[in-house]
Amino acid sequence: MHKSVNDIVALKKSKKKITVVTAYDYALTSICEKAGVDVLLVGDSLGMVVLGYENTAQVTMDQMCLFTEAASRARRNALLVADMPFMSYQACVTDAVANAGRLIKAGADAVKLEGGRFITDAVKSIVNMGIPVMGHIGFQPQTTTLAQGYKVQGKTKESALNLIEDAKALEEAGAFAIVLEMTAHETAGVISSIVSIPTIGIGSGVNCDGQVLVIHDILGMYEKIKPKFAKRYLSLSSDIQKAVEDYKNDVKTSEFPTKENFFSMEKGEFEKLKRDIDKDGIL
Ligand code: KIV
Repeated sequence: MHKSVNDIVALKKSKKKITVVTAYDYALTSICEKAGVDVLLVGDSLGMVVLGYENTAQVTMDQMCLFTEAASRARRNALLVADMPFMSYQACVTDAVANAGRLIKAGADAVKLEGGRFITDAVKSIVNMGIPVMGHIGFQPQTTTLAQGYKVQGKTKESALNLIEDAKALEEAGAFAIVLEMTAHETAGVISSIVSIPTIGIGSGVNCDGQVLVIHDILGMYEKIKPKFAKRYLSLSSDIQKAVEDYKNDVKTSEFPTKENFFSMEKGEFEKLKRDIDKDGIL
C-alpha cells in the first residue's frame, strides 16, 4: 500500500523531514521509487525540462494527464501528487474540480495548485469532493515569472506577512501541505511553525518540514537554468553526451554491434539460403 496524505502529515508531527522529488516518466520514476522518497510530484516543470518550453504557463491538462499516467505506472510506495497547470483552476471552481478529477483518474493521489488567498474557493471545492490538495506559495512559476521574473519572495516584513496570511488561508481551506518556493528562509521558518500542515521548501531553507527538487536538477541533466537552490548530485548531461559520442564512434568504426548484440539463423540455414540464392542467380 502506498503512502497516504495522512502519512505525510504525520511526518511533520513526528518531526521527520519529508522528501519530495519530481517525477515525469516511467523509467526515472521507478528509480526514484526505489530510492524511497515520500512524495513523487508530477510537476508542471515538465514543460521546461521535458518539453522545452520557456516557462510552465504553456503546459496543458492533456500533457499533465499523460505524464501522471506514466509516473503512476512506476509508483509503488510514495504519495503521487500532480500539478494543476496554468488556467486549469483559475477561471471557475467547476473547471477546478473537473480538472482535479482528471488528474486523479490519471493516477494521482492529490493535486497541487499555485496561489494563496485568491484560490481558496478552488481549494475548498476540490477538497470537498474528496481530492487532497497541496498548496504552493512564495515564488509561483506559473505567474510570478510573467509579472516579476525570478524573484525571491518574503524578503520584507510586508511580503512575509502576506505569505503568512496565504499559508493560513490554505490550511483553513483544507490543504494538507504547502510548497514554499524561493521564499526567504526566515519567512519560511515562521510559516512552518505557524501552520500545522507540512511545508515543503524549494530554495526556502532548512526550517521547512520537507524539501522538493526537480529530478533533472539533482541529476544535472538540464543546462538551461541552474537554480542557486538546487543541489546537483550528478553531472548526467556530460555523462550522457559522452555515452552517445562513444556509441556514435563505435557505430562509425563497426565496433558496435558485436556478436553479443545480434542474433543468428538456425544452424545450417544460412548455407541453404546461400545455395538457393546462388541457384536463382540472385548473388
Ligand atoms: O513544477 C514543479 O516541479 C514544482 C516544484 C518545483 C515544486 O512545482
